[in-house]
Amino acid sequence: MTITRADAVRLDAADPLAGLRDRFDIPEGVVYLDGNSLGAPPRAVAGALAAFADDWRRDLIGAWGSAGWGGLAARLGTRVARLVGAAEDEVIVTDTTSGNLFKLLVAACRMRPGRSRVLIEAANFPSDLYVAQGVCELLGLELGYLDEGAPLDETVAVVVHSHVDFRTGEIADMAGLTARAHDVGALMLWDLCHSAGAIPVDLTGAGADLAVGCTYKYLNGGPGSPAYAYVAGRLQDRVRQPITGWGGHARRFAMAREFEPAPGTARLQVSQAPVIGMVALDAALDAFEGVTVEALRDKAASLGELFVALAAERLPALRLVSPRDPAARGSQVSFAHPAAERILAEAAERGVVGDFRPPETMRFGFAPLYVRHVDVYEAVERIAAVVPA
Ligand SMILES: Cc1ncc(COP(=O)(O)O)c(C=O)c1O
Repeated sequence: MTITRADAVRLDAADPLAGLRDRFDIPEGVVYLDGNSLGAPPRAVAGALAAFADDWRRDLIGAWGSAGWGGLAARLGTRVARLVGAAEDEVIVTDTTSGNLFKLLVAACRMRPGRSRVLIEAANFPSDLYVAQGVCELLGLELGYLDEGAPLDETVAVVVHSHVDFRTGEIADMAGLTARAHDVGALMLWDLCHSAGAIPVDLTGAGADLAVGCTYKYLNGGPGSPAYAYVAGRLQDRVRQPITGWGGHARRFAMAREFEPAPGTARLQVSQAPVIGMVALDAALDAFEGVTVEALRDKAASLGELFVALAAERLPALRLVSPRDPAARGSQVSFAHPAAERILAEAAERGVVGDFRPPETMRFGFAPLYVRHVDVYEAVERIAAVVPA
């Protein structure tokens, strides 16, 4: 049965999250399916940045206290914690994903002395691979690739894995893999970049030890917005991260000679917080107010399903590389085609923004807060016009 625009309109009319699009500023006529790379700007951000400039001008250095800048890292951590199934004091917003991965990976290896290997998936995001390679070189450990058959045994200190695969959108079994790592005494470190804000994440339920993630994708914090790090409460006093700057000191302004780690996740900070980025992120997270992660997942699945069904009808030359089962994929659908790069470039000229991952993958992200079903319909129409016959 052919799917029509009226079907998409009906789905939007029944969508409980439909009104949330008004919280975003998306150019007229653009179908933005790249929120899995850089989220769209929430309307509240511009005002928050203007207020930030006023606070700075009015109170100067005093604004660290009067405007609450000093407490932002922890406060933002509590806001992100709700979206990743963590306790409020288990997440801190700081640095970049790669920087946090470096710190937590070194800390994890230190918590498992005598173990000689780190495991990661070869399919993980390149920056994670490079960081893991660098940490292994630094600490004299061996790096094994889980998806290439490297054994998960008692020689492994820590396993690093993405919750959602950045190319295919496939969701990993967080509880299952964490349990396998724990069975051999290894720690488990998750990368949540492609899941937080789009699908439910249950770090506590999975028994996860450590995690990192960015805030510029589905959390819409803006380009280069600060990342976050999670440490399970039971491990927090044992985490010794390697970049011991004054930001992670127990008494930063005592100006003491020796480093003394701050309690809890605060010790993961290195130095001055990127306040501008944090102010923007704080305002961006308001877009999630009153929204449950289950509602986000349902909307994302509905958008993805519509896209897959329409593509099967109108884009038969594209090969689906994401799992067919919506429960097995995150909020993105990927297709392969030998002319993927050119198709995306021509679709972009027609106002449909997706992204390309070599050699031939097209990724389309369905950010549940602002993408509509009619956008999905419109995207397929415009892409069909540029796919070579
Ligand atoms: C899965 C994943 N991990 C890590 C990163 C790197 O993040 P950052 O630039 O914050 O280090 C990205 C960036 O897109 C990513 O998608």
